[in-house]
Amino acid sequence: MPDEIILKVEQLTKRFGGVTAVDQISFQLRKGEFLGVIGPNGSGKTTLINLISGFVKPTSGKIAYRDKDITGKAPYTIACLGISRSFQMVRTFHKLPAFKNLIVPLYSPRVKKFGGGKYGERDDIAIDLLDDLGFERDSAVPYKMAGSLPHGYLKRLDLARCMALRPDLLILDELFSGMAMSEVAATLPVIEKFNREGLTIVMAEHRLKELFRVANRVIVLNFGQKIADGTPKEAMNREEVQKAYLGTEVEG
Ligand SMILES: Nc1ncnc2c1ncn2[C@@H]1O[C@H](COP(=O)(O)OP(=O)(O)OP(=O)(O)O)[C@@H](O)[C@H]1O
Ligand SMILES: [Mg+2]
Repeated sequence: MPDEIILKVEQLTKRFGGVTAVDQISFQLRKGEFLGVIGPNGSGKTTLINLISGFVKPTSGKIAYRDKDITGKAPYTIACLGISRSFQMVRTFHKLPAFKNLIVPLYSPRVKKFGGGKYGERDDIAIDLLDDLGFERDSAVPYKMAGSLPHGYLKRLDLARCMALRPDLLILDELFSGMAMSEVAATLPVIEKFNREGLTIVMAEHRLKELFRVANRVIVLNFGQKIADGTPKEAMNREEVQKAYLGTEVEG
């Protein structure tokens, strides 16, 4: 079903005390889409991702994933349904080698269902995933303690962790922040390939130029509200969007 709606967000709201971080947001996502989520600092991007992935419970509204109501469900339950998210602030198992950081998703019931493999094979899967993201298998990098790796590697390790879950929906929160230009340039085509192979992707990103190379649709948030939804060009041409970005640095 090429037009299958994979995610349906309805009137989603999250208030933290007096702050409405996400304000009555609705949108739908079709299978295979690549949706960018943009907006100035504090506009609600991370909160929206936290709501969809279960890390924060909504004040009101509804989230459905493939016709299943996932509103307020636990992160673990949502992950096992096939929604994987990365973190703006990456946290790893610092005292484990990089490739061992993929243990949790690789041993999840979801991956077991795919016929997860035996002990050693899982390590091979981890090394394969990391190799695609620039942790060269013949170098020492995949075997180094995660805590000793530079920031750009940690962001890519977090992406590999997401992919280890074999997600149907991948949600990336500022994956490119803190990455060197060369790392972004190397990672973009990999993400593009995941999308071409059928993975649905949502990407909150400040680096607009890079985002617009891969996303065919964007939603723009401002003070928790959705102020635009369309192609990057349509969205950026809207007056409300230009006003929202006024005084902030727009890359791209
Ligand atoms: N746990 C929390 N408690 C209180 N307020 C919060 C909490 N999380 C987020 N907020 C507030 O909600 C608003 C939206 O924040 P959020 O982190 O979702 O924005 P963002 O678009 O991801 O920003 P950035 O671009 O800086 O990452 C901000 O005003 C923020 O201070
Ligand atoms: Mg954020």
